[in-house]
Amino acid sequence: MPQRISPAGSISGCITLPGDKSISHRYAMLASIAEGDSRIRNYSTGADCHSTLNAMRALGVAIEEQGTEVAIHGCGLDGLRAPATDLDAGNSGSTIRMLSGILAAQRFDTRIGGDESLSRRPMARIIEPLSRMGASIAARDGRFPPLEIHGARLYPIDYPLPVPSAQVKTCVLFAGLYAEGETTVREPVRSRDHTEIALREFGADVRIAARTIALTGRPVLTGRDLTVPSDLSSAAFFIVAALLLPGSRLTIRGVGLNPTRSTLLDFLAGMGAAIRIAEVESRNGELAGELVVTSSPIHGGTIEKEITAALIDEIPVLAILGAASEQGLTIRDAGELRIKETDRIATVAENLRRMGVQVEELPDGLAIPGRQRFHAAELDSFGDHRIAMAFAVAALCADGESVIHGAEAASVSFPEFFETLRNSTTNASSAIDF
Ligand code: S3P
Repeated sequence: MPQRISPAGSISGCITLPGDKSISHRYAMLASIAEGDSRIRNYSTGADCHSTLNAMRALGVAIEEQGTEVAIHGCGLDGLRAPATDLDAGNSGSTIRMLSGILAAQRFDTRIGGDESLSRRPMARIIEPLSRMGASIAARDGRFPPLEIHGARLYPIDYPLPVPSAQVKTCVLFAGLYAEGETTVREPVRSRDHTEIALREFGADVRIAARTIALTGRPVLTGRDLTVPSDLSSAAFFIVAALLLPGSRLTIRGVGLNPTRSTLLDFLAGMGAAIRIAEVESRNGELAGELVVTSSPIHGGTIEKEITAALIDEIPVLAILGAASEQGLTIRDAGELRIKETDRIATVAENLRRMGVQVEELPDGLAIPGRQRFHAAELDSFGDHRIAMAFAVAALCADGESVIHGAEAASVSFPEFFETLRNSTTNASSAIDF
């Protein structure tokens, strides 16, 4: 369904956002292989995290949902059952990559695939370490979904990650849960550490020294009561809207502030953004707090090296901010963006051009001059949730009504996105009336 977006005056009030997608996946998988019951509050409403719940159900785990609260009756490390049919990861790279670590260690075979976009995403990055651990995995053309995973006895490895990927790190650590002895993962740059925190929360023995994570296999994981903080990557769309729309003052409650994710806030503050952080608390080892964002002039700058990896999911919406910034924004070292749900370098550049915004596509990034205006346009999500939401923010700043085709893609991580946006923005003409 296309969404029509009119220019907005400002964005204000107090909003709460769905639970963090990364944390929801990890809690659901670990609760399923823990002993006893877990209760997860504020579980992500996104379709991706429901792909994970449905895959766990197909593996024999009893799961009940009441609104955003999920009860999972864990069946222990060895309690999963062979699914009757293929597992469907939908659009979710996290589901297929992280769950494969668990599936590789089962006494049964599974086949797991997903939608057209997922079927184009590279899986060699998980097949390689899992094969070294003793798993046997067949893939389309040796590297794309669907995967046929022949469960086997796994052995621990010491694995230097060739790509900076929290999904691959998690896959290896989850497989390491089933291997007798110590599994070690060495990261080239520190990626989000929700897995390490969640593993400890469920009772696993995890040792972390700088960028090296070591896990002892065959732990007893125990069911837990958990609360998921709201998703900072979803908050990013609202933060950028509040920074760009003059007169905005937006409060976002209970947002995840894990330091391996909150580089976004440091980066924005460094570019002049007025963002106040308050009410910080720790829940299940994860930090969460309130953000108050006030519209601010943004200097612009460069995103490169390890900062690129830390901001990877936020780059589409930061590109919008960059075009409106004083000096523009250059993004480098972002080759990973080309293998996300879409080639996000290409899809961001295409939509920016449709809005009359000048942009240079680089092999590993984008160069976006500053002080540009957004013109109303027919835009496309290209089936990518973050592209749909990033360009909804751009459309709020445009000179007329824009249309986003394929806007329903937002439901992959944030089904309530357009409703929340509508309820918190004033339209441009009423803003002028003030
Ligand atoms: C995720 C890790 C990142 C990120 C994705 C979620 C995770 O992917 O882009 O949205 O939950 O571990 P990579 O592991 O491919 O970098």
